[in-house]
Amino acid sequence: MIAKQIKKIQPSGIREFFDLVLGMPEVISLGVGEPDFITPWRIREKAITALEEGYTSYTSNQGLLVLRQDISDHYKKKYALTYNPKNEILITVGVSEGLDLALRAVVNPGDKVIVVSPHFVAFPALAQMAHAKVLYLLTKEEEGFKINPKALKELVKQNPKAIILNYPSNPTGITYTKKELKEIWKVLSKKDIVVISDETYDELTYKDVHTSFPSLDKKAKARTILLNGFSKGYAMTGFRVGFVCGNKEIIEAMTKIHSYSMMCGPIISQIASSEALRAQKEVKQMRLAYQRRRDFIVKEFNRLGLKTIKPQGAFYCFVSLKKYKIDSLEFAKKLLFQEKVAVVPGTAFGKEYSSYIRISYATSLDDLKNAIIAIERFLNKL
Ligand SMILES: Cc1ncc(COP(=O)(O)O)c(C=O)c1O
Repeated sequence: MIAKQIKKIQPSGIREFFDLVLGMPEVISLGVGEPDFITPWRIREKAITALEEGYTSYTSNQGLLVLRQDISDHYKKKYALTYNPKNEILITVGVSEGLDLALRAVVNPGDKVIVVSPHFVAFPALAQMAHAKVLYLLTKEEEGFKINPKALKELVKQNPKAIILNYPSNPTGITYTKKELKEIWKVLSKKDIVVISDETYDELTYKDVHTSFPSLDKKAKARTILLNGFSKGYAMTGFRVGFVCGNKEIIEAMTKIHSYSMMCGPIISQIASSEALRAQKEVKQMRLAYQRRRDFIVKEFNRLGLKTIKPQGAFYCFVSLKKYKIDSLEFAKKLLFQEKVAVVPGTAFGKEYSSYIRISYATSLDDLKNAIIAIERFLNKL
């Protein structure tokens, strides 16, 4: 019954592992990539009011114009980027849908798409569903898990149709400076490659300011499909709102697919998202809380000999197990069964990363402290 293309795709390593966690009581989960904060009250209140006022219909396929206008204003203010809300912005059902649409809109069967590893689980799966051939660009711990421009130059010789960038990164938490992005763009600009830039975690950048890829120059803007949304920075995963900014032609193509497959994003969530863009004070408070947790967890992991690069964004650490010479799945399973702490094996983000685990610090400081005590006990028995 099932199409060959779908049979080929592996189920998400995260899901597989968390099926084990389900039903186990009292587990401290450092697994899920989801804020532990409840959506700020002013955003929820807006959604409640919208419902009370009877906003229960479809919206236009592209999404509410007022939300597109707010996103356009936000990008102008924050990144000096201009997108026309009428035809250069599309509201999607999370960044997940934006990714799917972007790939389906540009990939012809057999086209190559570069995925930078370790990678968010959906990137290769969605590329394959769009009938692309995935080219993996492996990054290394010694290079801070960042793209090596020379390695990228080699890979683009295979004439890929697109590359998916993601910074701050899930699963490593690394991000790029403007200078580093310019180096990457220098390589990409020589070829006719579409840049799909997933900047879902831009609001969770701790030290330096985030540089949005299309802001590098005019040509970069013309070639980039910029993806972002409200799930992470605004703690709105369940609202399911994302957006795409790009040139008129690409937005038109993506809207065509979206109008047949999804029709539109949920209206109440769209109304709440406009309010979210005004909740920058609340976003900052959450960011500062994540930063405190990051500082704690990185210091503690390094103290335990689990080498961890200090992440500059998102809410993940990619922790090295090399000192303990143990496979990531075995480590994660033993830790779960012996100490009831859930982490994600590195292999979920690329088969080469079997000496790493991903931990999410989107959980309370108390839980993080208890997890560290349990992990220390576990390591002493290894
Ligand atoms: C890099 C990245 N992109 C996209 C998503 C999907 O986010 P959304 O909830 O907006 O669909 C995630 C969620 O974990 C992510 O980590």
